[in-house]
Amino acid sequence: MKGTKGKPVYLDASQPIDKRIEDLISRMTLEEKVGQTVQYSTFQEKDEALIRQGLIGSFLNVIGAEQTNKIQKIAVEQSRLGIPLIFGLDVIHGFKTIFPIPLGIASSWEPDLAKQTASVAAAEASSEGVRWTFAPMVDIARDPRWGRIAEGAGEDPYLGSAMARSYVEGFQGNDLSKHGTLVACAKHYVAYGGAEGGRDYNTVDVSERTLRDVYLPPFEAAVKAGVGTIMSAFNDLGGVPASCNSFTLTTILRGEWGFEGFVVSDWNSIRELINHGVAATPSEAAKKAFEAGVDMDMVGGVYQTCLVQLVKDGEVSEKTLDAAVRRVLRIKFKLGLFEHPYVELGMSSKVIKRKEHVALALEAARKSIVLLKNKEPILPLKKDVKTIAVIGPLADNQPDLLGCWSFTGEPEDVVTILDGIKRKVSMKTRILYSKGCELEGTAKTEFEDATKKAKEADVAILVVGEGRFITGEASSRSTLDLPGVQDELVKTVFETGVPLVLVLVNGRPLSISWVAEHVPAILEAWHPGIQGGNAVADILFGDYNPAGRLPVTFPRTVGQVPIYYNYKNTGRPASSERWTSKYIDLPVTPLFPFGHGLSYTNFEYSNLRIVPDRIKVNGKVKVTVDIQNVGARKGDEVVQLYIRDVVASVTRPVKELKGFKRITLEPGEKRSVEFTLGLEELAFTNIDMKRVIEPGAIEVMVGKSSEDIQLKGKFEIIA
Ligand code: NOJ
Repeated sequence: MKGTKGKPVYLDASQPIDKRIEDLISRMTLEEKVGQTVQYSTFQEKDEALIRQGLIGSFLNVIGAEQTNKIQKIAVEQSRLGIPLIFGLDVIHGFKTIFPIPLGIASSWEPDLAKQTASVAAAEASSEGVRWTFAPMVDIARDPRWGRIAEGAGEDPYLGSAMARSYVEGFQGNDLSKHGTLVACAKHYVAYGGAEGGRDYNTVDVSERTLRDVYLPPFEAAVKAGVGTIMSAFNDLGGVPASCNSFTLTTILRGEWGFEGFVVSDWNSIRELINHGVAATPSEAAKKAFEAGVDMDMVGGVYQTCLVQLVKDGEVSEKTLDAAVRRVLRIKFKLGLFEHPYVELGMSSKVIKRKEHVALALEAARKSIVLLKNKEPILPLKKDVKTIAVIGPLADNQPDLLGCWSFTGEPEDVVTILDGIKRKVSMKTRILYSKGCELEGTAKTEFEDATKKAKEADVAILVVGEGRFITGEASSRSTLDLPGVQDELVKTVFETGVPLVLVLVNGRPLSISWVAEHVPAILEAWHPGIQGGNAVADILFGDYNPAGRLPVTFPRTVGQVPIYYNYKNTGRPASSERWTSKYIDLPVTPLFPFGHGLSYTNFEYSNLRIVPDRIKVNGKVKVTVDIQNVGARKGDEVVQLYIRDVVASVTRPVKELKGFKRITLEPGEKRSVEFTLGLEELAFTNIDMKRVIEPGAIEVMVGKSSEDIQLKGKFEIIA
């Protein structure tokens, strides 16, 4: 079939994509079709021949304009049909301009910030030939032992969905074929964050209801936002591993949600079906995953070695293969790869780490930092303090501030916290620095130096937490304490009596009960990215008023895990009564609740209006509240709306976030904030496993955190 300009239809950009796909598929051999389902990691010379034969469809971990162009040229100019490759990479929180980790970005409670950072990451990465990112990670995580909690938006499906949507919009832009976009990949489908014991890759066994109400919503939000790809997860899901689970991959993803993009496996997760014990051979693994709906095999090699034969033997139908190939090709067409397979050399130098990108990294870090505690208040500090002791293994540390999944970032771009402080204080201020101890290990030899400097100082700033390699993938921990002897370092410095401020640099909630009780001021900075030091200093010295809020609960001890705000009431809700649901040796509350975060100013909530107070099941309610900045400083408040469905056909959480807004108010300024509650907010999975709204009373709670509720009201849903 020829197109209008004498070219084959599939090469004619004026033709509709569906027509081009059909034309191309009609020309492909069985082997070439399977080639589109094969992904390799890193390029080796021996791969050239395979590319030339059209037997590889994608690479991951190949970066750089020259390198990607060189490999792309083989596919486009030397293979029979010239189908371009798609280059994928884990661009998780920035490419060269590294932003705070996603858990930090989520702490901003500002989805638009996620969008902006994703769009910068897309511009930078695509200038180096990458057109596909394995992000956002939208796994709900209720267990901070799981190292990958750092990569997502925390414990809440509503906040997680908002972030998922924004990341997809940021990476993909309005039109994937435009310069500077990446096709996004929502991962890890699904419930990977529910790993038993928080141990990475471990079994997950959740009910269909919890799956639908807790783990699936952020994926659905990503699909609705047009995400191009989805990654199937490593975990077992109630006996059927996620990478061969046709219920989640086909019934829900494609059937219920109408997802039209393609599904890529996680790294080797198809071959690992053998370890799971649901396939005896690579061929069986390939068949199971493929038929369940996994279109591309990341690295495992089982599609490459088995799919052709499976089709020839009639074990997998060519129709199923065509459907998968169609999905992969659609993304390649949408990206415009057939028209623009190459990257302009030298472009990256104009894009990477532009001034605006670095400025956004600063804004993102400032917005993601959470003031956990500020007694007296000790913060903000005066810039002309005479002597400051800066102590701790993360104070003068560049690489760890980058956080997990930042291997394209460069440690030398990081402004350390020590540097940030030095730049901020007056000329007369003396800064004394002591590392105090290593991040891990048992040596206390530097304690003496730390205490000596603390004693000389008017205030000590302790910077402690986690190194980047104990967060992220395969970094589950069995305790949530500060690693090594950092806890003892804090106690030792505390005993000098010097006023103390503690800055946490970490990738997960930590059970810092002693610190929370004794240290007067605590700042949660997460792994804040390249501008971390400046952002922390801006907040310490009052040039920025912090307004981050926790997207995840901080437990008092690891034994409280899993602990999350949207729990079920149980038949015996915790009380002072003995026979109720609690630990006998701990308060039932967490150390810091979901949504918590302080400010240097104060906000007053008033005048809650719920209109109307009775609606039909298909109706909508408007909730309005007035917020006033009653303090002396300009600041941001994150107004949070929670609901509770009091009686339903199934048990419902005691609280569910259903609206939030981060607003900026000048001193004295008052503003109304309005939320709408409709189908999306009020529906849940009922006794018949249907997503419905049930008649009954809904309690409305508006406040500063999931525990600090300021105003309450209710409305009624009638049949
Ligand atoms: C394994 C990880 O689970 C996944 O998140 C990542 O995208 C792939 N490796 C590729 O690096």
